[in-house]
Amino acid sequence: MERTLVIVKPDGVQRGLIGPVVSKLESRGLKIVAMKMIRIDRDLAERHYGIHRGKAFFEPLVAYITSSPVVVAVFEGNNAVQVVRNTMGATNPADAAPGTIRGDYALEIGRNIIHGSDSTENAQKEVDLFFQADELMSYERAVDPWVFE
Ligand code: RTP
Ligand code: MG
Repeated sequence: MERTLVIVKPDGVQRGLIGPVVSKLESRGLKIVAMKMIRIDRDLAERHYGIHRGKAFFEPLVAYITSSPVVVAVFEGNNAVQVVRNTMGATNPADAAPGTIRGDYALEIGRNIIHGSDSTENAQKEVDLFFQADELMSYERAVDPWVFE
C-alpha cells in the first residue's frame, strides 16, 4: 500500500473547505492514517518546497503556505500518490477538470487549495518531514474488503 502527503492549504482552511477536500479523497476509499492542523513556518516551507527555490513564484509560494494554518494528512491506498494527484486536478485550477478538487473549488494557481506528493519517492520524504513515526496509524477498516480487491 502506498502512502502520500496531502496539505489542505491556507485558502482551503480559510474558505471552510477542509471537509469537502478531505471528503473527496476519503470517499474514494483512501484511508486516512494521519491528520493534524499546523502552522507551517518559513523553515518548513522552504524545506517542503525546496525544489522550487530560485523560481519567480518561490517567495509568493512561501508567503502563501505560511499565511494561515493548514491541515496535513497522510492517505493510504493502492496507487495513492497518483490517485490523489488525479483527484486534485491540474496545478493551475483554470486548467483543472470539473470534478477535481481544484476544478471544483479554485480559480488561480497561487490559491489552489491542496498539495499532494508528486511521486512515491517524494511522498516518503514529505511524510517524514511532517510526521513522526508514532503519528502514523496502521489499522484495518471493516470496509477495506469492499474497497481493495
Ligand atoms: P503542490 O506541490 O502544491 O501539490 O502543487 P503542484 O505539484 O501541482 O505544482 P508545483 O509545480 O509543485 O508548484 C507548487 C505550487 O507553487 C505554486 N505555483 N505557482 N505562478 C506560478 O507559475 C506557479 N507555479 C506553481 C502553486 O501554488 C503550486 O501548487
Ligand atoms: Mg508539487
